[in-house]
Amino acid sequence: MNITKIICLFCIISLNVFAQKNTKKIQQTERKISPDLMGIFFEDINYSADGGLYAELVQNRSFEYSPTDNRNWHPFTAWDYHTPVFSYGSLQIETNQPIHPNNPHYAVLNIEHIGTPSTDEKFTKIPENKGTPGVGLRNSGFDNIVVKTGEILNFSMFARLMSMQPILFKVSLQTKNGTILAENSLSVDSKNWQKYSISLKSTAASDSAVLVVLATSTGKVALDMISLFPENTFKKRPNGLRSDLAQLLADLKPSFIRFPGGCLAHGDGVGNMYRWKNTIGPIETRKAQKNLWGYHQTAGLGYYEYFQFCEDIGAKPLPVLPAAVSCQNSGGTWRIGGTGQCALPMNEMGDYIQEVLDLIEWANGPSTSQWGALRAAAGHPEPFNLEMIGIGNEDKITPEFEERFKLIYEAVHVKYPNVKIIGTSGPFHNGEDFEKGWKVADNLQVHTIDEHYYVQPDWLLKNQHRYDTYDRNKSKVYLGEYASWGNQIKNAIAEAVFMVGLERNGDVVSLASYAPLLAKRNHTQWRTNMIFFDNSGYFLTPNYYVQKLFSTNKGDTFIDNVVSFDSKDSTLAASCVRDTKSGDLILKLVNASSSPKTMKVDLSKFKNTGITAEQIVFAGNENLENTYEKPNTVEVPKMSTITISKSFDFASSANSLSVIRIKTSTPLK
Ligand code: AHR
Repeated sequence: MNITKIICLFCIISLNVFAQKNTKKIQQTERKISPDLMGIFFEDINYSADGGLYAELVQNRSFEYSPTDNRNWHPFTAWDYHTPVFSYGSLQIETNQPIHPNNPHYAVLNIEHIGTPSTDEKFTKIPENKGTPGVGLRNSGFDNIVVKTGEILNFSMFARLMSMQPILFKVSLQTKNGTILAENSLSVDSKNWQKYSISLKSTAASDSAVLVVLATSTGKVALDMISLFPENTFKKRPNGLRSDLAQLLADLKPSFIRFPGGCLAHGDGVGNMYRWKNTIGPIETRKAQKNLWGYHQTAGLGYYEYFQFCEDIGAKPLPVLPAAVSCQNSGGTWRIGGTGQCALPMNEMGDYIQEVLDLIEWANGPSTSQWGALRAAAGHPEPFNLEMIGIGNEDKITPEFEERFKLIYEAVHVKYPNVKIIGTSGPFHNGEDFEKGWKVADNLQVHTIDEHYYVQPDWLLKNQHRYDTYDRNKSKVYLGEYASWGNQIKNAIAEAVFMVGLERNGDVVSLASYAPLLAKRNHTQWRTNMIFFDNSGYFLTPNYYVQKLFSTNKGDTFIDNVVSFDSKDSTLAASCVRDTKSGDLILKLVNASSSPKTMKVDLSKFKNTGITAEQIVFAGNENLENTYEKPNTVEVPKMSTITISKSFDFASSANSLSVIRIKTSTPLK
């Protein structure tokens, strides 16, 4: 062996040793991140569904409002009896021959006389003498109806003729003082319930329109499901979603959507649990019920629409079903310690378990299966590919809960071993229910467990390492509801600090969703929310920007020891993740203090990092927040290109989240 060969051999051996060491080091400091980590939580709270994301513009379209929903409500809430030009007749609610037993109330109009406008000059100016004569109904929508000039809206109603001659109707959108914005007509001629559909095109804009459904000929008619949708729903889906709000959610690129709650899922008493079967099928056959947040759920936004929306935006569906117990705060018992949990009687558990199993067949079964056939009939023959379901929502872990949860869990696990089941651990980050919920999960080896907590920003900073020490051999964590109490920049940045901890522990925290998501003006029931909206628009919160920066800059692998800083400083956090698909390295650097701080970035272990990188910075004074009056107070995240080197100091501004995206395809010059 000559000297050159010896040197070469030595080189090979040393390179191997180096490579092995290097590999070992990288293996130790790299961790897989769950592909589903960043999702969203949708609950019908704050008028998020009816009057919110669900694009129906008519409030109480099926005359099902009642004092059970809200003590001041009744079947004519949001409706007026309308008799322009001295017309007369009568209006009442009947229930004896409904479209469907699930939808028992309907309105009956008896049109006795259609008035004639007076031409006498003394009367021509009085408001009662103006407009189209007739007898009908006027709906004020969810705090009025907003229309744009040229907008097309789809009107429909179910009607059943109760007299001999067909009845003519004029359907219009009007301003409060009766100016017509859009108008069309139809004739009701069937003695059986039939759906009548027409479209309306608005010639002018209004933010306070009303819908007028006016019979202009005499007779008697039953009316139900009086509905008005913008033609332009999200992806033009019939019975669809408000496109601007749905787009904001799509822009978050969530990996999953949890629905339908929250407390809404387990309900206010056993009779109010959210039962998925009541929410599918033709909308006139769905079962409306009280919303435990003090209003009404039409179930128009039901399981089919949730699953369709998930598919439309590339998110996995995550339905949460009650664990056969109601909310422990049922009847408002949070005031006396939340002892209102009610459990389904054990003799009803067989049927209930079957209901849970049927959901999986409905979502995933072939269209030839009993429940898959209903999905296909609704327009979706292909399976929805449901991968996971939640059982229970932050329930009190009582013996009744445990018994029922175990039964449901075991039945689902045996029949569908590949469906991941998510258990629950109470409403707080620690305490009795938290401990007991985890114990249940440990005993049954539940795949994932749902943790919830709403906390002060400081808690998030101090607890940013919460998941570093979680046992990797136990259940995974779904952080199903979390937020700091506030929508100021300081809240969002504290959440960013904590979310770095979620990324770092993305092997054990497999799902996370900020909550609540949407809140309507004048109907906001929760202190902090991600998106605030009214009928015409919305404003975003700093929390939305932070969520979006994380979910649109996610990686599949966490890489340690790339960014360094004073580890005792709880206002700082940073992560480095790799997105294998694009090859990009993504750094997130967070400074939750009110002064700029420096962090050191060391990229020396990576090959081919370019000399420039894309940077997005979200920063601002800690107390800034957006409002309806000042929706742009908080500056949107700013993008720029920065120059980088293998190792550099990063000046992190006060109250900021910076995302740096580094391409690894261009070799460093
Ligand atoms: O997100 C609002 C509520 O907070 C949810 O309904 C409930 O699960 C939690 O207590």
